[in-house]
Amino acid sequence: MPSLHPSYPIETDRLSLRQFQKDDLADLFAIFSRQDVTRYLYWPVLGRDETRDLLSRWIAQVGLDEEGDAISLAICRRDSGQLIGEVMLRWLSEVHSQGEIGFMLHPDHHGHGFATEAARALLELGFDRFGLHRIVGRLEARNRPSAAVLERLGMRLEAHLRENEWVKGEWNDEQVYAILHAEWDAIDKD
Ligand SMILES: CC(C)(COP(=O)(O)OP(=O)(O)OC[C@H]1O[C@@H](n2cnc3c(N)ncnc32)[C@H](O)[C@@H]1OP(=O)(O)O)[C@@H](O)C(=O)NCCC(=O)NCCS
Repeated sequence: MPSLHPSYPIETDRLSLRQFQKDDLADLFAIFSRQDVTRYLYWPVLGRDETRDLLSRWIAQVGLDEEGDAISLAICRRDSGQLIGEVMLRWLSEVHSQGEIGFMLHPDHHGHGFATEAARALLELGFDRFGLHRIVGRLEARNRPSAAVLERLGMRLEAHLRENEWVKGEWNDEQVYAILHAEWDAIDKD
């Protein structure tokens, strides 16, 4: 069975993607206690204890050994070292060779391409290191900034599912973006 245990941090032009650690709690709480961050996520704003539980899970998510596993990394700016968000690669299916990416940023750091840069590094892991066949990104259809990240990465809108989920007291539409390994290989990455 394939497995993936990259060495960390993963460095990009402006970012360092590293494992989460216990003393990230305050930085993570500063992100998840904001309504504008959780607006289109499945969960509402988090309290300190809930953020601690999430952090414990993310600290453990550093490699892919079986389907369902995820790699969750802290997005840190290389210029300041500051933790500004989270990026994730999940192994969805072994038999179908599928993965999923996800990301979030503190709003103070929106508008610089940091989410795109971090997610691109995880697509690289998923395709070039782990050999996945297809990677998806799923979002609430009103989450335009998230769709724009996926489009910048070269992903295509494959599905718009009308009112398929009941979230936070209302019907939500879900969109599914995807990119195939062959499409990733064809992208000019310079
Ligand atoms: C989704 C989310 C991460 C997008 O953040 P973002 O800052 O818009 O995305 P990026 O970091 O890729 O930055 C892109 C923006 O920076 C600009 N930019 C500046 N320099 C750039 C560069 N070098 N490369 C790419 N974009 C750059 C882009 O033009 C774009 O700006 P625009 O939205 O005005 O067109 C953010 O909205 C978020 O954290 N939301 C809350 C959590 C969430 O919903 N996560 C997704 C769940 S599906």
